[in-house]
Amino acid sequence: MNVQFTETVLRDANQSLVATRLPYDSFAPILETMDRAGYYSVECWGGATFDVCLRFLGEDPWERLRKIRAQMPNTKLQMLLRGQNILGYKHYSDDIVRRFVRASVRNGIDIIRIFDALNDVTNLKVAIEETVKSGAEASGAISYTTSPVHSLNTYVQLAREMKAMGVGSVCIKDMAGILTPKAAYDLVRALKDAVDLPVVMHTHCTTGLAFMTYLKAVEAGADVIDTAISPFSGGTSQPATETLHYTLKELGFDTGLREEKLLQIADFFKPVRADFIADGTLNPISLTTDTQCLTYQIPGGMLSNLLSQLKALGALDKFDEALRETPKVRADMGYPPLVTPTSQLIGSQAVQNVLSGERYKNVGAEMRAYCRGEYGKTPAPIDAAVRKKILGDEQPIQTRYADTLPADTYEKAARELGSRARSEEDVLSFILFPQVAEQFFASRQAEEEKVCRYSIERVA
Ligand code: CO
Repeated sequence: MNVQFTETVLRDANQSLVATRLPYDSFAPILETMDRAGYYSVECWGGATFDVCLRFLGEDPWERLRKIRAQMPNTKLQMLLRGQNILGYKHYSDDIVRRFVRASVRNGIDIIRIFDALNDVTNLKVAIEETVKSGAEASGAISYTTSPVHSLNTYVQLAREMKAMGVGSVCIKDMAGILTPKAAYDLVRALKDAVDLPVVMHTHCTTGLAFMTYLKAVEAGADVIDTAISPFSGGTSQPATETLHYTLKELGFDTGLREEKLLQIADFFKPVRADFIADGTLNPISLTTDTQCLTYQIPGGMLSNLLSQLKALGALDKFDEALRETPKVRADMGYPPLVTPTSQLIGSQAVQNVLSGERYKNVGAEMRAYCRGEYGKTPAPIDAAVRKKILGDEQPIQTRYADTLPADTYEKAARELGSRARSEEDVLSFILFPQVAEQFFASRQAEEEKVCRYSIERVA
């Protein structure tokens, strides 16, 4: 019996515990060891890493990927892609999605896990197609949630559609840690029966269910589980790699992992974690178990976002109220799974509703776009009265939103950037995060000129 592991410390654990603030230099020395640990794959890119590299770390995300690739020639590198959202927070045209997927594979990605926050397959199709065409594996992710309109059958149907689109595996993506051991067992069995593809399990420790959920999922035939090396495990992150390895090995599973390497990796990340605790980036709250999420379905990351949003507004006392408002907003909005970008939409709206004292008095541009149907088809219809309050008489769009977007975004961006962009990758960074990328290009240029002048002076 085999069960394989995807290590998440560089992406999801990093994102869930320390707001994705691990700089490349903080993990570079351990990559070679990770490369020989026997992981099925290492999730190291995509999600929030791209934005944070440019915005906060002064790093070119493409360069980061190439460096990881060079250090890890033997391990499959994996990224998380938000379907038609790519790694941004809105929809992009098909041309941009295709270019981004090709560039990701070209720079070193082997597996692209693709999800849509609404599980709308029309938002997955292009990314899946292009991944397969580029020679990488598309892993189709189910954004798992529970609601009056979600059932086992919803997910089986989704998996069938993704299989028809060409995915090489199906991932159950439980971003909130609400998948119970029994539900995991039933869902894995149903998927294995229906689609005959490897099933990958992804969950978070948030509610304390994760270890049990993985055990039952593996018992039901799950092929791969997502875990994080122990110092970056637990709380809003994934369960510990070592713990599951020992447990499953004893039960007779071959994990392919090398224990001495896991020990070295854990030892390496302990002082890294200590530094993040010391400077306050790693909030101890993120490391605790919070069973409220079973009711509120707050995914890893969203809880800390809510906290920091309220803190910035000097309204921390409204935290509990905002937590209670969140599932109400979600119901109004047609029960979207809570994952980027819907988690931000719903979370911010809940905060607004609580702070302004009147529900849907303040509504942001993104929420309007959501109500117009720009994010895709919602699992259930949006509450008619709420939609009317937000949109007035404006009608939702009837077509797939990406089809209404201009097809020349890339060419326009390339022209606008001129020589500031040195590659297609630069142009893509700019399309996803215009201001942030421009600032990054400017500081990159300034850094180089500094170095340049210095060497000229030295020569003279
Ligand atoms: Co996750």
